[in-house]
Amino acid sequence: MGKIVVIEGSSRKNSNSNAMAQAFKEAAEAKGNEVVVYNATNMNLNGCHGCMKCYSTGKACCYDDDFNGIADDLLEADGWVFAFPVYWYTMPGQTKCILDNIFSFAVGHKDVKGKKVSILSCCEEKDMTVFDHAVGPFERGGKLMGWNFVGNVLVPGVGGEGAIEQTDGCERAAALADKF
Ligand SMILES: Cc1cc2nc3c(=O)[nH]c(=O)nc-3n(C[C@H](O)[C@H](O)[C@H](O)COP(=O)(O)O)c2cc1C
Repeated sequence: MGKIVVIEGSSRKNSNSNAMAQAFKEAAEAKGNEVVVYNATNMNLNGCHGCMKCYSTGKACCYDDDFNGIADDLLEADGWVFAFPVYWYTMPGQTKCILDNIFSFAVGHKDVKGKKVSILSCCEEKDMTVFDHAVGPFERGGKLMGWNFVGNVLVPGVGGEGAIEQTDGCERAAALADKF
């Protein structure tokens, strides 16, 4: 049992990746975890300015955007789940803004080693390599920062709203809760 932060990355009403996030949330809560969900597409995010002044003013980022509002939750959490659709063979821009700002934890010497991390993603094409540059930045960056990847759910062939329901994506996302 612990605290898990889920970052959604789609603003679609009947979003496939958000459906996986919700399936994970329900299963993780049923196991007694506290799950906090943010949707990056509803947030005012500017990414990283590269000033290297992270935490020098007490806040994660000197440029005050909504990342500062979730930074403490991310630090307190035992696990992070990133749910997002593939956009142009990578993650959506808003998700990348969150990942860029997570750099502040490294600059600010915050301990994020051992955080359990999972990715829930889907794409329209029926080719698993479409996920390579969506998942790769998390895995390479996470390796540097000592994150503990406990499993991903990557579902190809999912295009229209709600199409995830024709797959086992939500079931697999729920099963992933056992790893947290
Ligand atoms: C801007 C944009 C870019 C996309 N790029 C890709 C892509 O490169 N490869 C792919 O297979 N699907 C791509 N898609 C399709 C989405 O990944 C797919 O529809 C997904 O199921 C959307 O998930 P969501 O319902 O959670 O938003 C793209 C969709 C949009 C809107």
